[in-house]
Amino acid sequence: MLLLRARDRSARRRRRGAALAMIAALAMACTSTRTDTVSGATTTITEPLADPTAEAAAAKSKALIIAVLAPKGSTAKVADAIATVLGAVIRSPEQVKPATLEGYDLIGFGSGIFDAKHHEALLRLADSLPRTADRKAFIFSTNGMPVAIAGEEMVAENSRISHAELRRRLVLAGYRIVGEFGCAGFNDNSFLKLFGGINKGRPDAKDMERARAFALGLKESVDIQRGNE
Ligand SMILES: Cc1cc2nc3c(=O)[nH]c(=O)nc-3n(C[C@H](O)[C@H](O)[C@H](O)COP(=O)(O)O)c2cc1C
Repeated sequence: MLLLRARDRSARRRRRGAALAMIAALAMACTSTRTDTVSGATTTITEPLADPTAEAAAAKSKALIIAVLAPKGSTAKVADAIATVLGAVIRSPEQVKPATLEGYDLIGFGSGIFDAKHHEALLRLADSLPRTADRKAFIFSTNGMPVAIAGEEMVAENSRISHAELRRRLVLAGYRIVGEFGCAGFNDNSFLKLFGGINKGRPDAKDMERARAFALGLKESVDIQRGNE
């Protein structure tokens, strides 16, 4: 009798797991019908660090964030939080010259996740980076996995998997990945617009706290010098 109940429970767990995976897979599949023009992402940084003093300090920092950010997008919030802690300047892939990246102690690469990878512009930039030895880098993103259904663990797993393409290209260029950050982001791609989007309010206060803690960890582990420009 006890054995039958245990079997029942484990079958129920398996069914629930399979259902969750299916819903998540469906949401992913439905969000993957994009071209760059409809991603909403822009390679122009419209709202960098709000505080001009912070921007001036960041201009002298040896930490750089290269990101594809939509105005008021989810990843922009995360990028701003990390940049503020690191005292880093944020630039788009088009704004950086790969040859001049040598001057930085730490470089972050980030965007939303589109078709299970970072934005094309970031991947293209990674391909064009001159080979370096042991330059420290970190990767970040927000993704549209439906967190209310899938849970935080699956969102984290989705980040890890979706970072693979950028990670591979950076490692190939000789970068050492010293940290990765990902969290849920608001997603109103495709048919999700009809429901007003999913992951409303994400990244939330907890995500932002995690992003700041992540940046603090980087700051403590990487010796970021000040520039003299
Ligand atoms: C065209 C398109 C494709 C997307 N593809 C995926 C995907 O494959 N996996 C995923 O988790 N989220 C996907 N998303 C959701 C975005 O990654 C998510 O909304 C992210 O927070 C967007 O970041 P942003 O607001 O900074 O642009 C997609 C969104 C769009 C617009």
